[in-house]
Amino acid sequence: MQGSACVVTLRREHKLNALSTGLEGALADALGHPDVRASACVVFTGGDRAFSAGADVGEMRDLDPAAILAYYRGTGAVYERVAALPQPTISAIAGYCLGGGLELALATDFRVADRSATFGLPEVGIGIVPSSGGMHRLVRMVGVARAKELVLLRDRFGADEAHSLGLVTEVVAEGAALDRSLELCERIAALPPSAASVAKQAIDFMPEASRDAGLALERLAYGMLAQTEDAREAAEAFTEQRSTGRRPRGGPP
Ligand code: COA
Repeated sequence: MQGSACVVTLRREHKLNALSTGLEGALADALGHPDVRASACVVFTGGDRAFSAGADVGEMRDLDPAAILAYYRGTGAVYERVAALPQPTISAIAGYCLGGGLELALATDFRVADRSATFGLPEVGIGIVPSSGGMHRLVRMVGVARAKELVLLRDRFGADEAHSLGLVTEVVAEGAALDRSLELCERIAALPPSAASVAKQAIDFMPEASRDAGLALERLAYGMLAQTEDAREAAEAFTEQRSTGRRPRGGPP
């Protein structure tokens, strides 16, 4: 734990954190750790040279269809487990963030990249496609045309371009991605935890929802959250501020 955050670090640096089934399994184990459950926010990070250079290309060879299906039932499911975490998540990115590494980063809610970060989806060039949820998420984030451009036409791109595409939340100085992510975690930790978690999950469902279902989800979420102690206290503090003219403690300036 670092403050309110649980930091999960990929540690296979001699292979640029290539996502072998061993590393995916270790990541899955980490998600079950009590610190992850107790944290307000989970930060995923790698090393200075690489967040991750993607799926382990050595392991991918020679898998038959049955082994590939078994993979998605096994460690290949870890990307969706990251995406399904109830609390907000951040990827703190330095160096290479390629293929499955980028897909992992896209499975988190926010991405903070330092200036050394290099992004890319090299899969089609090696005869496959991004298949850890990355193409689906990419289309949602940047649209069909941009997704095709990034998957089919582009080699690598840097942090500023990733930011202008909306893939990266913030670009920071080299070496500063983890510290900045931890600052954002503390901002998240200051929010009422139920509201932060419900907002994250509701927003994740919205692109799949019809307008009517989306509005119903918002209203039901509001109905539940409005009953929480946090919401009652905030409403009382607001009323008190209006009657005394004073700003509530911890409220906006
Ligand atoms: N899978 C398995 N091993 C990988 C890997 C990957 N995706 N990416 C890097 N590695 C290994 C290298 O084999 C090398 O191991 P070795 O020292 O035992 O030979 C080590 O990590 C360092 O990589 P190296 O290529 O020597 O570093 P580099 O700085 O010259 O190049 C990259 C870095 C990222 C450009 C290059 O490693 C690369 O292109 N990797 C593959 C990226 C990729 O295609 N990912 C998507 C797979 S779907």
